Amino acid sequence: MSMNDDILRVLYSEEELEAKCAELGAQISKDYEGKNLLLVSVLKGAVVFMTDLMRHITVPCSIDFMVVSSYGSGVKTSGVVKIVKDLDADLAGKDLLIVEDILDTGMTLHYLKQLLQDRNPNSIRIATLLDKPERRRAAVRADYVGYQVPDEFVVGYGLDYDEKYRNLPYVGILKPEVYKK
Ligand code: IMP
Ligand code: MG
Repeated sequence: MSMNDDILRVLYSEEELEAKCAELGAQISKDYEGKNLLLVSVLKGAVVFMTDLMRHITVPCSIDFMVVSSYGSGVKTSGVVKIVKDLDADLAGKDLLIVEDILDTGMTLHYLKQLLQDRNPNSIRIATLLDKPERRRAAVRADYVGYQVPDEFVVGYGLDYDEKYRNLPYVGILKPEVYKK
């Protein structure tokens, strides 16, 4: 049984994703010329996108990671998260680019952006591979968007269902029977 059998339809192929990273990387390189770029990724979903994207960024940059976990059941409404692993970097004077896999309700990112803002970086922007604008519940928008996707559950290229499918090289729609069984 292959992971591919659980995929209803491929949305973005490996080649398309590579081209998208090149396009976004070129834009980011232009915008961050002469700045102090720090790429920040929240583990684990955004790791694949971040590592591909950073290889298309031609200006100097550093990278850092955060691990967050949800606070009980109130999280769905508040977006408040607990920091399990904080950034190593001091944010003063840095131009922060938060790299996300998918912007869904936006609750988590809205909270995180605020939290990082309080540490006085020079600037904060958001780059997300996928955006589901229909699902948004918090006032947060991405400055760099790979693709706007319909409200369907997608996996691959870092995105998981129950910690699986992250290693698929493409982004695909998961067959509903997989998460209904
Ligand atoms: P939100 O924007 O705070 O709702 O949370 C976004 C997070 O939800 C992402 O970082 C993913 O971990 C997860 N997520 C949302 N939609 C999907 C999807 O279609 N597939 C896989 N994970 C998703
Ligand atoms: Mg996830």
